[in-house]
Amino acid sequence: MKVFKRIKELQAHLQQLRANDKTIGLVPTMGALHQGHLSLVGQARDNADVVISTIFVNPTQFNDPKDLERYPRPIEQDMHKLEQIGCDILFNPEVSEMYAGNEQWHLEIGELEHLLEGKFRPGHYQGVTQVVFKLFDIVKPDVALFGQKDYQQFKVIARMVDLLKLPIRLVMCPILRDDDGLAMSSRNIHLSATERQNALILSKALFWLKDNFKSNNITQLQEQAANIIRQQDGVDLEYLEIADGETLHTANQNSVSFVALVAARVGKTRLIDNVLLND
Ligand code: PAJ
Repeated sequence: MKVFKRIKELQAHLQQLRANDKTIGLVPTMGALHQGHLSLVGQARDNADVVISTIFVNPTQFNDPKDLERYPRPIEQDMHKLEQIGCDILFNPEVSEMYAGNEQWHLEIGELEHLLEGKFRPGHYQGVTQVVFKLFDIVKPDVALFGQKDYQQFKVIARMVDLLKLPIRLVMCPILRDDDGLAMSSRNIHLSATERQNALILSKALFWLKDNFKSNNITQLQEQAANIIRQQDGVDLEYLEIADGETLHTANQNSVSFVALVAARVGKTRLIDNVLLND
């Protein structure tokens, strides 16, 4: 695996690949890699000749400085995992390589970024679109892969690609879960054994919704699922929403696809999860 920390050197390498008609698949991450991330790398391999992962803990998308500070950064282990799975290129820049310092711009892609996560993490998606736009501009991938785990993030990025007419195909990859149902996340390592046990209520409530889903009683179902979570000690529910899969507004009679999204605090750790209700 070739590792680059500098944009110029990465671009020189990518230019050579493109001259040889290679297609490029991009998997952006913030590291602390788990099987979920690695499954994206595997799916990138099915979609492109050359797979590039990025590891960059992007400061502009953290609305909580403590969250940024304690974000795990096991770079040596990450590099080993990427090598083993057969990733071709890793781009792992410093903050100073990605940002000129005091950058005062952001993209504004509309209401999608202000709902749900956007309400609880103001400015989060502006940080995400800022860095993903930069990564797209640096790498110019043919295809970029993101996880359904961050469903709203995927929709926000898809909207950005659409608005800016970027020639990049996006692929949404399924959520990988541990055997007990907990969605894999880099933040799970912060959970104590008890907290991890408590956190299982999130996927349980989502699976209950999927099993019981009927599009004619959304409000009631939403309330019942929220109550399942509220009854769990040690879990502080932020939102549980049955949303229209496209607009992310609360689903209604005109909705075609439905997704249930949840966010909660378990101890000091904030977790998100979701399930597609009619796939
Ligand atoms: P990060 O949280 O590291 O996630 C990187 C990618 O892995 C995202 O597309 C995310 O949806 C996917 N992912 C995370 N957990 C997953 C799971 N359990 N199963 C499948 N895929 C999973 O998302 C980000 O980083 C950042 O916001 C980023 C897009 C890199 C911009 O900084």
